[in-house]
Amino acid sequence: MTDQLSSPEFRYVGGKLHAEEIPLDSLADSVGTPFFCYSHAGLIRNYKSFTDALAGLPATVCYALKANSNQAVISAFAALGAGADVVSGGELRRALEAGVPPDKIVFSGVGKTREEITQALRAGIMQMNVESEAELDIISSVAGELGLTARISLRVNPDVDARTHRKISTGRRQDKFGIGIDRIGMVYARAEALPHLEPVGLAMHIGSQLLTVEPYRTAFQKMAAQVAALRAVGMTATRLDLGGGVGITYKDETPLLFQDYAAVVRETVGDLGCDLVFEPGRSMVGNAGVLVSRVLYVKQAGARPIVIVDAAMNDLARPAMYDAYHAIIPVSEPQNGLSHALVDVVGPICESGDTFAVSRNLPPFKPGELVVFGSAGAYGAVMSSAYNSRPLAPEVLVSGARSAVVRARPSIEDLIRQESIPDWIQAPERVRGAA
Ligand code: LLP
Repeated sequence: MTDQLSSPEFRYVGGKLHAEEIPLDSLADSVGTPFFCYSHAGLIRNYKSFTDALAGLPATVCYALKANSNQAVISAFAALGAGADVVSGGELRRALEAGVPPDKIVFSGVGKTREEITQALRAGIMQMNVESEAELDIISSVAGELGLTARISLRVNPDVDARTHRKISTGRRQDKFGIGIDRIGMVYARAEALPHLEPVGLAMHIGSQLLTVEPYRTAFQKMAAQVAALRAVGMTATRLDLGGGVGITYKDETPLLFQDYAAVVRETVGDLGCDLVFEPGRSMVGNAGVLVSRVLYVKQAGARPIVIVDAAMNDLARPAMYDAYHAIIPVSEPQNGLSHALVDVVGPICESGDTFAVSRNLPPFKPGELVVFGSAGAYGAVMSSAYNSRPLAPEVLVSGARSAVVRARPSIEDLIRQESIPDWIQAPERVRGAA
């Protein structure tokens, strides 16, 4: 099997890989490598297929900023009517700045600070998803100080295994997320009794990159039962936030189809009379983006050739963090009949973990050649760092024949400028300079 990209917006035209109508080699010439490239048409297609699948349901789609929080990407979704799921004061600020209406913003997260709660209440967001009893008290107290009422949902930990990578599984009893399902009735009653709080319903998110509907079916059924139980004792729950998590194709996985997901939503919670909130992240942006990199060297070591590229784990952390698979594709279309070989593909960072592929069957790569890493639109740029003092890779958004640098590459001077040397450090250079 050879690697492929699973998005129609990235395809070979005249032997060159294009993002929509723009050849990636021309972008590489102007922006430099490595860089992220996103397709606007891909974002639109993903969002529309999701909302089409949910047609007829009382749904608000709150794009999960954590997957890709570039202002241009958030704005693109906001222009289509999307709300936002945010997990920090920083993301809240980004959503507002990109034009997401406050009444379509959900604030999730296990550790909201008083400052973040204040910021959310002042902005008048749709709801905060509360993850512990202690957080209820804090929100009630902050809302009281501000003279405001906080709309809240309780995030339920439904104790369901999403059967995904252990580091992105969030709905099992032992995970740090949400309030145990057996305590929801009691905690909800407490929320109704506390001043300055308006409980509006329940929320859940069991994990990311789910490839089957079964864990959803189980969790949604449990949520429906919880809503019924609250109502049976006279409490009001009018909103159900079902989180995100729909998986995409990185290699050869069968993706979870939006239609199949929506069918389970209809079957389990469609008749509750609740407004539904969805928080998709990866499935909106993952396959609408690639990371473009240049081959620096090819060397022989041990059994296989090692291809060294100029992108590294600081740019795309997923392979190092989760052993994640990202397709690797040459920008110049390989000629028919070219023999593939097993190679390792690595970045230049001084760690063995800085490895993108081990024993991957790839066409021959030459130094200077451009390659792309597929499915890098989600959890790519947002998780990047300046490790090894490698400035963050820029981000480019393409729309038809137009392109825009939507985040510029900082210079090393920009990085150094943010730091300072206290005057009690006597570096030789400075001592000499002072002499
Ligand atoms: N809502 C909540 C409360 C979440 O925690 C998440 C993701 C989402 C929505 C969006 O889930 P999605 O639709 O993107 O699966 N860095 C990891 C993924 C971490 C996901 C964290 N939570 C990765 O690269 O695979």
